[in-house]
Amino acid sequence: MKIYLKIWRQKDASSKGKIVDYTMNGVEGDMSFLEMLDILNEDLISKGEVPIEFDHDCREGICGTCSLQINGRPHGPDRLITACQLHMRSFKDGDTIVIEPFRAKAFPVIKDLIVDRNAFERIQQAGGFISVNTSGNTVDANNIPIRKENADKAFNAAACIGCGACVAACKNASAMLFTSAKVSQFALLPQGRVEATERVQNMVRQMDLEGFGNCTNTGACEIECPKGISLENIARMNREYLSASIKG
Ligand code: SF4
Ligand code: FES
Repeated sequence: MKIYLKIWRQKDASSKGKIVDYTMNGVEGDMSFLEMLDILNEDLISKGEVPIEFDHDCREGICGTCSLQINGRPHGPDRLITACQLHMRSFKDGDTIVIEPFRAKAFPVIKDLIVDRNAFERIQQAGGFISVNTSGNTVDANNIPIRKENADKAFNAAACIGCGACVAACKNASAMLFTSAKVSQFALLPQGRVEATERVQNMVRQMDLEGFGNCTNTGACEIECPKGISLENIARMNREYLSASIKG
């Protein structure tokens, strides 16, 4: 396939970026999207040009670092996969593909397609610890009865990989889906109830401090989330927050 690429290039955080055109020949459908970028970079290096910086680690949908806005959609056109799991068979000969970094005030661009998502780390840190004793007299997890439905919902919430697609998809750049997944994975389990009141208050406070927008129930986050994190988690976080506020 012949593919026309329009890629955001930005030297560093303080430089002004711009879209640069590239043309690739011989792109095969079985190539992953990132392999296609690797080949482009090899070509740029061989010509003495600066390669395109993009984030990646696991390349199998686990680490959440491959945050690319592809033709205006976080992680590209296919649902429930990350950019590293996207393959060129999802495109056709002659297509033009626009690749940009995730756009949000709280995710400043570091270089080219890489954004700083440390705001997510700080929200998780604000959540604090869980007072489960792991220092020698650990209680066997199977001794604590947990309803299957709650265990499944907590597991599904814990599937969030912190990629930031929910923020990039949201017209308000809201981080509610991410934060609510992190709140829910603990709120649904007895081990997470001990610090539940402070946890939700601290995480929501940090989320607001980072400059993420508010949720207006558009639902784009759920549609673009590669891990299928449900909006139900946002409703749960709102209930947790309300109940924590009443408790003071
Ligand atoms: S909720 Fe989904 S889109 Fe948002 S950070 Fe987690 S995995 Fe990514
Ligand atoms: S590189 Fe790890 S999820 Fe894509």
